[in-house]
Amino acid sequence: MTTFPEHFLWGTATAAYQVEGAWNEDGRGPSIWDTFSHTPGLVAGGDTGDVACDHYHRLEEDLDLLAALGVGAYRFSISWPRVQPGGTGPVNRAGVDFYSRLVDGLLARNISPVATLYHWDLPQELEDAGGWPHRDTASRFADYARLAGEALGDRVRTWITLNEPWCSAYLGYASGVHAPARAEPAAALAAVHHLNLGHGLAVQALRSTAAKDAQMSVTLNLHHVRGVSERDADAVRRADALANRAFLGPMLEGAYPRDLIADTASVTDWSFVRDGDEATARQPLDVLGVNYYNPTLVRRWDGDGPRETADGHQDGAASPWIACEDVEFVKQPGPYTEMGWNIDETGLTELLLRLHRDYPDMPTMITENGAAFPDPVAADGRVHDADRIDYLHRHLAAVSEAIAGGADVRGYFVWSLMDNFEWAHGYAKRFGIVRVDRETMERTWKDSAHWYRDVVAAGELPARDFARHA
Ligand code: FCB
Repeated sequence: MTTFPEHFLWGTATAAYQVEGAWNEDGRGPSIWDTFSHTPGLVAGGDTGDVACDHYHRLEEDLDLLAALGVGAYRFSISWPRVQPGGTGPVNRAGVDFYSRLVDGLLARNISPVATLYHWDLPQELEDAGGWPHRDTASRFADYARLAGEALGDRVRTWITLNEPWCSAYLGYASGVHAPARAEPAAALAAVHHLNLGHGLAVQALRSTAAKDAQMSVTLNLHHVRGVSERDADAVRRADALANRAFLGPMLEGAYPRDLIADTASVTDWSFVRDGDEATARQPLDVLGVNYYNPTLVRRWDGDGPRETADGHQDGAASPWIACEDVEFVKQPGPYTEMGWNIDETGLTELLLRLHRDYPDMPTMITENGAAFPDPVAADGRVHDADRIDYLHRHLAAVSEAIAGGADVRGYFVWSLMDNFEWAHGYAKRFGIVRVDRETMERTWKDSAHWYRDVVAAGELPARDFARHA
């Protein structure tokens, strides 16, 4: 049996574009994800977020769902183009009202609101002006943060500036498998910097508008990178620099790692980093958000045979691993989820202990963890997702192990509350603990939702005898 700290925050997570729908209602402007999903061939099945889970129109029902689950917190994201349609100028009142009702509805149910400012839905107008590779976007983001802080800062408990800037920069601008589908490695590194800068400016803007005791955070999808053998140490270092230290460096230490600058010298001279930017990116944070799904395995590639690219993401026009031409991403042993991601919770324990070692004063919070599985509806009308329960159980046990090892982990959010629009995979990949019927939009609790409710109520995992994956 594993026990979690007394004030451990138990939650579920979603993101605006993945659940809201109502893409062109009440003054919402288009985002890069509307453009992406409306472009034929980019999303599996031609799916779009136009309707998504219709959460925008089913807010009360979904709030009741959260209350029935008994979670102490809910992580949602604010759609920038709903609040500020073109990414500049005054707020769209109707958009702000929606989030205001959401936050009030959470507080009325005793659920702590955890708001992400940016979960990938950049206003299309800002992309047209250059997007994240363009420095001005960081300032626009700070303005938006200020508006959000003014509107909701008296009630939101925890602010997360960015969700997974790794994906925004490298999947959006290097491999192009995410919006805005650009394959320009140098621009992707400029995007990395302007996301870091935007984060720092946004924290400043929120500190001046939000409640004094509001918590500031950012969510990173840190990669737990392992090498196949000792000869792969430099491949591990390179991947770690690009994936992890490109963000941890400026945000937590106020400087880019020197090896990252050297590794990428053939792609960019980093002249977009101006004096003072790195200091701006480093703002005091209260907690670091960590999203974890699986570890990453690399090997030095010496040019023999085809280079493996099994990094868990679709292959795009270029590699998201800029200047890692001699690094292979090796397929890991199963079992796998529906995403083809291997299940290995030991990476989560190791990652949390590494963060604790490197940043002993920075508490962490698992802002996403979960799995997609086929989830057939059984003859009894229910979804018996024993595989998801097993996944969640293993990963929560891994969190508890890290806590036992000294890591200060403050909370855990299941990805996701409900089945939703899984980016370029459309609705084919189901991550919810609650099923959403694509025809009727009806919400049905999967077995994992019942299980999670019991875990949350007990504040501990039930006794379970399961073999650790090797
Ligand atoms: C993360 C995203 C989230 C969801 C999960 C499966 O990278 O932050 O929106 O798509 O993956």
